[in-house]
Amino acid sequence: MKKILIAIDGPAGSGKSTTAKLVARRLGYVYIDTGAMYRAMTLKVLNSNVDPADETGVVALARRTTISLVEGGDLRVFLDGVDVTEAIRSEEVTNNASLVSSYPAVRELMVAKQREIGSEKGCVIDGRDIGTVVFPDADLKFYMVADIMERARRRQEELSGSGEELPIVQVVRELAERDRKDSTRETSPLRKADDAIEIDTTRLTIDEQVEIILNYANEATIGHEEMQRK
Ligand code: DC
Repeated sequence: MKKILIAIDGPAGSGKSTTAKLVARRLGYVYIDTGAMYRAMTLKVLNSNVDPADETGVVALARRTTISLVEGGDLRVFLDGVDVTEAIRSEEVTNNASLVSSYPAVRELMVAKQREIGSEKGCVIDGRDIGTVVFPDADLKFYMVADIMERARRRQEELSGSGEELPIVQVVRELAERDRKDSTRETSPLRKADDAIEIDTTRLTIDEQVEIILNYANEATIGHEEMQRK
């Protein structure tokens, strides 16, 4: 069966990572979490003596950094050979990732890597600019959205799972700030591609989100096979 490339974009907490991961598993595809790459880069900045606001310093550091995503049951993220899968989920990394990912030269390095991994097809890739910039020719594009209170509730739950308890007002404030930064930056802002299918996940379960995408994926692969037979 033909393998396709599925792009899923959307704001933080819209459910894209969880959904993308499960869709990839069901299809036997590779899952690429591009947010994890920007997070790993942010962790490197925070662990070095570089101010996240110092664009030149951050870019120089990015050129000396190796980030890799390794499949194996769960996706593991490696920063210069060290497994940072859990460390990149901290509040500090989350709150600085928008700034680090706003630098065009940092994006260029990450996008080159993402295109390299995604060139094989048979992958589900999630982020902010996948359908618009990284893979504008993706076979299927989705744009996931959800009400900010619901997104905050999900984020609070996720944080709680890793031992960080934050009041909901703070989570809402931080999410709104991240939305603002990610969608107003000059290079590759968060935006729905014109040909992306929008899914509002506010009242959907994860299973429902996965099924919606799998239905489209089945249609796309079957449609392709029929075209080839003609
Ligand atoms: O999806 P996430 O929350 O793990 O992403 C972390 C940050 O990385 C997010 O604030 C914006 C940035 N990002 C980006 O600029 N482009 C992407 N394709 C993915 C993430």
